[in-house]
Amino acid sequence: MNTDAHLDPCVFVIFGGAGDLAWRKLVPALFDLSRDRRMPADFAVIVVDRADLDDAALRRRLHDGVKRFARQGQAAGGEWARFASHFHYQQGDFKRLETYAALGARCADLEREWGALARRIFYMATPPSLFGEIPTYLGKAGLNKVRARIVIEKPIGSDLDSALALNAVLAANFEEGQIFRIDHYLGKETVQNILAFRFANPLFEPIWNRRYVDHVAITVAEAVGVEHRGGYYDHAGALRDMVQNHLMQVLCLVAMEPMVSFGADEIRNKKVDVLHAIRPIQPDAVHQCAVRGQYGPAGTGRNGMPGYRQEDGVDPGSETETYAALQLYIDNWRWQGVPFYLRTGKRMPRQVSEVAIQFRAVPHQAFPPEASLGWQPSRLVISIQPDDGILLGFQAKYPGPTMQLRPVDMRFNYRESFKAPAPEAYETLLWDIMNDDATLFMRADQVEAAWRLLMPVIEAWKTSPPSDFPNYAAGTWGPEATSFLLAQQGHCWPLPVEASPPDPAAKRKP
Ligand code: BG6
Repeated sequence: MNTDAHLDPCVFVIFGGAGDLAWRKLVPALFDLSRDRRMPADFAVIVVDRADLDDAALRRRLHDGVKRFARQGQAAGGEWARFASHFHYQQGDFKRLETYAALGARCADLEREWGALARRIFYMATPPSLFGEIPTYLGKAGLNKVRARIVIEKPIGSDLDSALALNAVLAANFEEGQIFRIDHYLGKETVQNILAFRFANPLFEPIWNRRYVDHVAITVAEAVGVEHRGGYYDHAGALRDMVQNHLMQVLCLVAMEPMVSFGADEIRNKKVDVLHAIRPIQPDAVHQCAVRGQYGPAGTGRNGMPGYRQEDGVDPGSETETYAALQLYIDNWRWQGVPFYLRTGKRMPRQVSEVAIQFRAVPHQAFPPEASLGWQPSRLVISIQPDDGILLGFQAKYPGPTMQLRPVDMRFNYRESFKAPAPEAYETLLWDIMNDDATLFMRADQVEAAWRLLMPVIEAWKTSPPSDFPNYAAGTWGPEATSFLLAQQGHCWPLPVEASPPDPAAKRKP
């Protein structure tokens, strides 16, 4: 097997590894890393779960996941057998100390076999209700020592109090430097590119402020509904599931001050500064700066889409929001007075995640009125997915004898420019954990600051249940009230950028 000799030996322990996350994301990502020679020479994956499985049954299940989800496709014959030989199953109850004692013994055996101490990475791929239990048992069993790392997925709590409690349990058993809190958006290439774009180019930073930027709109729209996760989602909703983490992280990268170095804490300090500078939402002003929605059914027959309340695992009278939009202000020198609009929803017309920076109009319009009929202020759109790239919209002269201005676009597209395969977010994140690089992970104070900010909205929505749900049809851009949120400032949501036209050269290929 291809390996990376620079990496320390490593034992991944995946609690709940018989579940969906390991099958769909973690193991396919590990497989892709191993194909790219990015796994240590000595590594093992111990899956701990309650299900009645053995090594062979576990490997069969994981093979199925790799075949379906690995970026680099099929894993056949010898290649799969070699990779799968690193996986072991341990049946056990997460709430019994014996499970952890057996785990410790297994890790020690492996280290003896390798003749070296391993990095032990404990990954909690369990339901969130176990997040508070496992670290305590690891601590009791003495498995929290210096080479141990613990990985926890969002959601980190379901409100400020539960996040504080969870962070306290983690801190009682692990040092902050041992804790990796995953927000998979941070592993996306295009999200990481926001830093490269802003701080590796002197061109944009001078105009990245209130003097030139009129407003910023961050959209994370999904075409899918709640899929098979109705049971979880119905207790979460869009604000907890997406805004508290993914959208806040993107906002921080867009709004942060330049970092002094590329150190994990330097970057995370700059991001948390943004959260601290966001103007708190006043409880009596929630309705002016937050909008919620829930999708209803649309269409009939084969084109029909169920409403949220008809989805599996969802309460038929559910008041959970599947759409959330916010208007925020950042009270610092750079952004004073610039609205930041955030929106996310399920069952939107199409999947699109993007940051649209709308620049101010020119200070003086010198062109004749007839020149500027289609005139639009410049805008920059950072497309996160599915069309990963950057678009700069500006004015150009339309060909002809008279001065006529028209908006045009300049596009950068990742795939066309680099012609290099982009890793999946989980590949990047797992690789970073093995390298002990916490830059792309959420720190306790960030998580808490994001919850603190959203608590007034969570409270207000809890105390005054929605009277109009469902208030948008599946396949539309959300409830009507979302336009009013921006109309107060004379703005409107940008129409998401269309995907780049297909590469004509690609079509010619046989
Ligand atoms: C997850 C949310 O964190 O992100 C899901 O729990 C959502 O509800 C998903 O669908 C979106 O991720 P991506 O990478 O598909 O944009």
